[in-house]
Amino acid sequence: METSPQHPVLVIDFGAQTAQLIARRVREAHVYSEIVPHTWTAGQIAAKNPAAIILSGGPSSVWEKGSPNVNPDIFTLDVPILGICYGFQTMAQALGGAVENSGQREYGRTELSFTGEPSVLLEGTPNRQVVWMSHGDAVSQVPDGFVVTASTDQTPIAAFEDPARRYYGVQWHPEVLHSEYGQQLIENFLIRGAGLTPDWVPSSIVDRLVDQIRDQVGSAQVICGLSGGVDSSVAAALVHRAVGDQLTCIFVDHGLLRSGERQQVEQDYAANMGIKVVSVDESERFLTALAGVKDPEDKRKIIGREFIRSFEDAARKLTEEAAASGQKIEFLTQGTLYPDVVESGGGEGTANIKSHHNVGGLPDDLQFELVEPLRELFKDEVRAIGRELGLADKIVNRQPFPGPGLGIRVVGELTRERLDILRAADLIVREELTEAGLDQEIWQCPVVLLADVRSVGVQGDGRTYGHPIVLRPVVSEDAMTADWARIPTDLLAKISTRITNSVPEVNRVVLDVTSKPPGTIEWE
Ligand code: XMP
Repeated sequence: METSPQHPVLVIDFGAQTAQLIARRVREAHVYSEIVPHTWTAGQIAAKNPAAIILSGGPSSVWEKGSPNVNPDIFTLDVPILGICYGFQTMAQALGGAVENSGQREYGRTELSFTGEPSVLLEGTPNRQVVWMSHGDAVSQVPDGFVVTASTDQTPIAAFEDPARRYYGVQWHPEVLHSEYGQQLIENFLIRGAGLTPDWVPSSIVDRLVDQIRDQVGSAQVICGLSGGVDSSVAAALVHRAVGDQLTCIFVDHGLLRSGERQQVEQDYAANMGIKVVSVDESERFLTALAGVKDPEDKRKIIGREFIRSFEDAARKLTEEAAASGQKIEFLTQGTLYPDVVESGGGEGTANIKSHHNVGGLPDDLQFELVEPLRELFKDEVRAIGRELGLADKIVNRQPFPGPGLGIRVVGELTRERLDILRAADLIVREELTEAGLDQEIWQCPVVLLADVRSVGVQGDGRTYGHPIVLRPVVSEDAMTADWARIPTDLLAKISTRITNSVPEVNRVVLDVTSKPPGTIEWE
């Protein structure tokens, strides 16, 4: 059975931070999934026409007053169900089993063994394996019709199955990487247990999205704000695949870009793909608006505001040009992703755009209807689609770069000269990291100019009074937390020497060895 937004696997979120992770793992198994809140009624769930349901873990104890219970009506829908951790317990309770507070927490890597009963979920995995546990309560009695398939020293009922009704449950977290065979278990549930076809693959996603865009846009004109980042590049490439020259992209050069970025967008991306791009050089406007401003939040606000104004000006011009040739721009493409939709609480319908990371966010009073082809996708899927559409690796694998760009990497007031110093140092760092093959390992590496700091140095016979450059290479999964990247010291030495030799205003290179928390990734 195929899955799609019309026939999804629903992950019912009991408040676990792992609900998104579960949904991602399902997608990695090439099956389409969506997250819905546990407060949904069985009617709302049925209306989604689910292909299967997964009940997530959650922070509560089933014993706590007011803790969320699974809605028992979902067991009348005749849909395969997998309960995970809290979801396993609430499922056991709803179907007539029992859950007890054992008084003992089982936490972390735990050895699991099979009971010997035949198992759909555990098929093809070793009968002793390490799983990740995190629970205080435990299922103490299985509901009628279920067999126990696995246990740990502390938890005799660690997994159960009722293959006739296609109901399954596990006490551990198969979605986290510490559970050795977790992904296999999720696939076993989806493919063997629920009989789903793993056909949510880049080529079929592209075909579907292209059809969808064509339906939405018809013969109207579309504009798209390109930032050079992965999301807007892939969104534009998709719309281009769907409606070709009806798409015009706008690229606002705010003067806070890194060396070569504008050329990369104009040549490597637009020219190679045959996409129309109108670039506007607005660096003067931004620098004028930012003159004298030091506070990072003020900088962000000004950059955000000027970005919107620049974009509106460019869009207005294009609208007039289109009108002169009897055409109308009706649509605006944005690269909104599924996590943005979930995190802004907009799982259903309306267009929500994260306000924190602001520059791409456009006001909703722009007179365009939104085209958001990536709304259903996770970042990994966006990258896979980018590859499918033929985008170059350096675009698809591009590291995150903040919308306000180098504006928040010059600590202090922004001037053209300071930006040029930073650009020169940043280019050296990027070249060296790429040559050392570290681009994939490192999440991102802000290079920061401490423009208001000067320190004494010596060069040749003379004393210098220059600025420090900070290197901030980090490793991370999602930018919410991060650690400083352990870059080989020889490479650091090479970077330092190159920067101090070729950027005269810089006489010191320092390495930031702070994790996040407490330090954020960016310095401002
Ligand atoms: P922090 O500095 O908060 O950064 O640890 C987390 C991630 O967000 C990026 N970042 C921004 N992106 N506008 C953006 O578009 C911003 O104002 C902004 N501030 C931080 C940062 O590069 C990292 O990936």
